[in-house]
Amino acid sequence: MVKLIGYKKIRTAVFISGTGSNLKSLIKFSKTKKSPISINLIISNNAKAKGLKLGKINKIIKKVFIFKKKNKIENQILSVLKEHEIKMICLAGFMKILSENFIRKFKGKILNIHPSLLPKYKGLNTHQRALNNKEKYSGCTVHFVNSKLDSGKIILQKKVKISKNETKDSLAKKVLNQEHKLYPKAILKMFNL
Ligand code: GAR
Repeated sequence: MVKLIGYKKIRTAVFISGTGSNLKSLIKFSKTKKSPISINLIISNNAKAKGLKLGKINKIIKKVFIFKKKNKIENQILSVLKEHEIKMICLAGFMKILSENFIRKFKGKILNIHPSLLPKYKGLNTHQRALNNKEKYSGCTVHFVNSKLDSGKIILQKKVKISKNETKDSLAKKVLNQEHKLYPKAILKMFNL
């Protein structure tokens, strides 16, 4: 478990690739008194990510990195993180896999949210796969990031019931609603709050 030193909020970067609804919920949470983190940087691999608009609205610096040569880009990201004194990273719908070298530099300080009850349905297309397997429940997981895809230590999970006429879109919506609550809760848990 990570211990909080003093009362200064932990400078955090959120990595996104798309809509950024989890980013939005994290920004809202970060502004509350009980939040141990502040969000000081938004990073995206996609210049068209809708979530980037949240940077302007909330006056948070945003940077886009196009992942062509992964090592080179990751080194550039690492120097931006250093420049902004970032101590923690929340992946929120970030669709790139970070290298072992990058993860090592932020060991135990990178979290991810995944739209399934891990260890079930790692990777992509989780909702359709859960439906194909006639699962009764699905859900979401916040976990530490390690070098294996969606495999780091689980911090918190939330189960949702799959209804009779569930489609992949209705399930995605249902799970996403829970994700917005789960990520802040997991951060509080991580800091023993
Ligand atoms: C969320 O459902 C998140 O769990 C998922 O992408 C969505 C992003 O939504 N992440 C992954 O699938 C990561 N493998 P958002 O951009 O609205 O937060």
